[in-house]
Amino acid sequence: MADTFPQVSYIVASFLFILSLKGLSQPETSRRGNLLGTIGMAIAIVVTAVSLFLRGAGTAALPSPSSTALLAGAIAVGCAIGAVLAARVAMTQMPELVAILHSFVGAAAVLVGIVTKIHSAGSDAAHELEIAIGVAVGAVTFSGSVVAFLKLRGSVSGRPLLLPGRHAANLALAASCVALTAVMLTAPEPGIGLLALLGITALALVLGVHLVAAIGGGDMPVVVSMLNSYSGWAAAAAGFMLSNDLLIITGALVGASGAILSYIMCVAMNRSIVSVIFGGFGAEVKAVGAPKASAGTARETNIREVADLLTASKNVVVVPGYGMAVAQAQHVVREITDALAERGVHVRYAIHPVAGRLPGHMNVLLAEAGVSYEIVKEMDEVNDDLPGTDVVLVIGANDIVNPSAQDDPGSPIYGMPVLEVWKAGRVVMLKRSLAAGYAGIDNPLCYRENTLMLFGDAKHSVSQLLAAVRER
Ligand code: TAP
Repeated sequence: MADTFPQVSYIVASFLFILSLKGLSQPETSRRGNLLGTIGMAIAIVVTAVSLFLRGAGTAALPSPSSTALLAGAIAVGCAIGAVLAARVAMTQMPELVAILHSFVGAAAVLVGIVTKIHSAGSDAAHELEIAIGVAVGAVTFSGSVVAFLKLRGSVSGRPLLLPGRHAANLALAASCVALTAVMLTAPEPGIGLLALLGITALALVLGVHLVAAIGGGDMPVVVSMLNSYSGWAAAAAGFMLSNDLLIITGALVGASGAILSYIMCVAMNRSIVSVIFGGFGAEVKAVGAPKASAGTARETNIREVADLLTASKNVVVVPGYGMAVAQAQHVVREITDALAERGVHVRYAIHPVAGRLPGHMNVLLAEAGVSYEIVKEMDEVNDDLPGTDVVLVIGANDIVNPSAQDDPGSPIYGMPVLEVWKAGRVVMLKRSLAAGYAGIDNPLCYRENTLMLFGDAKHSVSQLLAAVRER
């Protein structure tokens, strides 16, 4: 019974984690998904702590009262820090918070591996291999995540560090880890095996730093998603070391879902996932450098003209981008679309998969502003309707509506799927200038005949626009 209860609880927790992931895949069900994941994690922590206590009770083995108090104290402090951080973090700081959380998972896997090695002298080769893999993946995740965190915070330069022969250096580091694993498996004495494991840890730490240092700071969200996947595999490896089925299942879920998310982001940005894994794809973006010379003259508009256009339309599509997030304009934008809908205008939002700077960035902002999920459409759902749309309002977005992705084979974003807003009757772009977006390239959309530019900070522009729409 004492063994059955934790096993059954772990199956329940695993099931909740799977339902949680399913819930998190849709905005409508994401809150429920989050709640189910939280319940699953609470079950996992409480059952593990209680079964650890029961197993130790009545024996001379751990946990002693002091180690139980230590465990309870650690959980309390961890919960308090987590709650304060989650309450304080701004949406734009989310990638750096996630990066540092991944580093904790990596560090935990390394520590579990080293302690397991110390206590498992003479264990079989399969167990030793689990330890070596867990420690190597954990160390790469730890140091890579710390570098990603520092780059995202701006504490170290976001520029990619492109050492000559960096791929060969990565290969040599990985090969050395494999060689040390062989030493560990065949070491005649536990002390030599432990030294080999510490060697693997050191080399994997260097590998993690080098892999992530080679990526440009702006590309870090994809790397963070990759590190999320690595942290899952590190947790699964720790599960094997500790013979904990729940940790294996949870780690595999995180590892697989992180890998799928990275792949989706790479496809949406027209990047190769292989170059993300092996580092240095930020260099491609860096190489495109400054915007090309402008392709014509942009036509400037004003608040009155845009308000007239919007109120006279039957169909309006709003395309939010990074600039809307920076300006925090989402609440006023929602008020504008509400006002238009009240006048009978058919309004929808079109979301590009990599709009903003992290997956789901725009969905979260729109949900926060109270926009109904029903009018928030994915790129693929909207693109075919754009030719029949009267006005597209592009708010602080640039690359995701750049026609060069389809027209210009020489463009660095050529092949990236984009929202084909230029096919609509009118496009109104709200941004502060003709400056490039994240990819650093000119956007010919600004100079198209049916495009009007409404210059200014997005929050300021939409606030004035709201007043003008209400006046009509
Ligand atoms: P961007 O192409 O970066 O364009 C944002 C535009 O917003 C800029 O051109 C800027 O123009 C404008 N802007 C900035 N602050 C503003 C403000 N206060 N008011 C009004 N406009 C403002 O953004 P996007 O179209 O959302 O595309 C996202 C880009 O990020 C893509 O290239 C994507 O590949 C990349 N990326 C995305 C992700 C994920 S997962 N979402 C991850 C990594 C990279 P002005 O300076 O002229 O105002």
